Amino acid sequence: MSAPNKSYDPVEVEALKPAEVERMRDEALAAIAAASTLDELQQVKVAHAGDRSPLALANREIGALPPHAKADAGKRVGQARGAVNKALAARREALEAERDARVLVDEAVDVTLPTDRYPRGARHPLTSLADRIADVFTAMGYSVAEGPEVEAEWLNFDALNMGPDHPARTMQDTFFLKDTDSVVLRTHTSPVQIRSMLATSEPPVYVVCPGRVFRTDELDATHSPVFNQVELLAVDEGLTMADLKGTLDHMVRALFGEGLATRLRPSYFPFTEPSAEMDMVCFACRGESVGNPDRPCRTCSSEGWIELGGCGMVNPRVLRAAGVDPERYSGFAFGFGIDRMLMFRHNVEDMRDIFEGDVRFTLPFGMEI
Ligand code: DAH
Repeated sequence: MSAPNKSYDPVEVEALKPAEVERMRDEALAAIAAASTLDELQQVKVAHAGDRSPLALANREIGALPPHAKADAGKRVGQARGAVNKALAARREALEAERDARVLVDEAVDVTLPTDRYPRGARHPLTSLADRIADVFTAMGYSVAEGPEVEAEWLNFDALNMGPDHPARTMQDTFFLKDTDSVVLRTHTSPVQIRSMLATSEPPVYVVCPGRVFRTDELDATHSPVFNQVELLAVDEGLTMADLKGTLDHMVRALFGEGLATRLRPSYFPFTEPSAEMDMVCFACRGESVGNPDRPCRTCSSEGWIELGGCGMVNPRVLRAAGVDPERYSGFAFGFGIDRMLMFRHNVEDMRDIFEGDVRFTLPFGMEI
């Protein structure tokens, strides 16, 4: 800033000459008009209306003028700065309106366009079936029990009356765990029977046990080294085979509908005595395909019956191994494979479809809560 002086006229100060002030104003107005974006306008504002702009610097000269010259020069510079600020505001308003109009077009959303839908998954049909079976039994007062997939050999075999020389223990059927002492991948859900009895201080015991089991089978259309079973165990005073039969009849009714007879065929399992295989009348042909070549049935291979699983009265030796007094209590048990049940219930022809995890298999079964 110049030193105060009392004598000279503002027109003698270069920056305050009318023509110079006009030039600075016109230059600013031209730059404002030429700014085509808000960012550019911001730069123009700094250059022509900021603290270090020519007009702001000229304004500072006014202070050094003698009093009689101040008003005139101040008016001139003030008007020029006013015109610049007004032009800046007007240009800003115009550019903002332009931007808003553009955004409205660019970012418009057509709510009528179809969206990219994320496909909804479905529960695996095996999970649904296992839950449904468990529901049938919990409705009768049973609890759901689960055991570990890596199981003590004693629980998987010995306690179930399958001694050390039992054929099922050989390497052909059982996955033994390396470097462990008597630990296997459970070959069936029956060890959960023992665990459930041991966990209760005194019967009654009513449990349903769904779970994954393992055997050294090759994977093909009807076999898998990993498959799924459901085990049933009831231990109470006075239970008989009639209770077993009634319970299984109820299960078949709940899962497959009314009017399907069941039958027990004598069989052998070390952990039940007596033991039986349980069949139900084919729900698809209701037995009508038997001896009727005009009406073959894929579900039961025209045999009229479908085998469901093994069952029987719990062997007293098993009760004793699990700390239950066989003089006072009796029990029945039932075990069956639910992959097989899923296959015949829904006409699944290849077991591998169940395990491969392809949604084209899972989705048709839909959502089931
Ligand atoms: N645990 C047998 C298996 O995996 C199935 C079985 C048969 C379970 C008879 C039982 C039963 O509870 O009573 O082959």
